Amino acid sequence: MTKRTEAVEAFRITEMLSSDIPDVLAIEQHSNPEPWTPESFLEELLRPHSQLLVARVPAEFGEMVAGYLCFWLVADEVQILNIAVHQAYRRQGIGRALLVHCLNFGFEKKTRKAVLEVRSSNLTAQHLYRSLGFLVVGQRPDYYGGGGEHAVLMELSMAAQRASGKHERWSKFDQFVATDRS
Ligand SMILES: CC(C)(COP(=O)(O)OP(=O)(O)OC[C@H]1O[C@@H](n2cnc3c(N)ncnc32)[C@H](O)[C@@H]1OP(=O)(O)O)[C@@H](O)C(=O)NCCC(=O)NCCS
Repeated sequence: MTKRTEAVEAFRITEMLSSDIPDVLAIEQHSNPEPWTPESFLEELLRPHSQLLVARVPAEFGEMVAGYLCFWLVADEVQILNIAVHQAYRRQGIGRALLVHCLNFGFEKKTRKAVLEVRSSNLTAQHLYRSLGFLVVGQRPDYYGGGGEHAVLMELSMAAQRASGKHERWSKFDQFVATDRS
């Protein structure tokens, strides 16, 4: 087993702390064409309905943040605002684990659906969202700055997940959680 594989096996999902922001920003700069600023993350940490998670690689593997996710719990919806994984740790299940943790949280809070927007060119992320049960429900033309790229709107129905029993399969990806979700 390589060192990186062991590190990925050992990651834990916990709440983001303000001390994580430098690590998070380093990932954000390489992941988001319109990166969030330190202030954006600090604002989210203070917002009551905002939840910020990190996938944390433990001390024996050089403690660092390997990925993060920000979502809001508003009324009966989970709104996913931002997700990224460090380039060195991609395609190893961390993005999926962060999303599953967020969806399970929404499921337990009896939300009706999860919603998100994704760049039309970002087929990698769209593939991940579809694999979890998100469907395309619309688009916002010329939504992103610069190139005027469209946003694809995607939605996951919690009821449809429950009916299909799919949410039960999420649990196998939710084994890394170290947070108290109460
Ligand atoms: C999107 C992102 C968060 C995925 O994180 P990740 O940890 O690499 O994803 P996972 O390893 O959990 O992949 C889960 C699934 O996503 C899809 N996926 C991930 N990378 C992919 C790629 N390069 N090509 C095609 N599908 C891909 C696959 O369905 C994959 O499942 P599989 O490995 O069983 O085939 C990551 O690529 C990233 O940080 N991208 C830049 C930021 C970004 O685009 N955020 C989304 C904004 S809406």
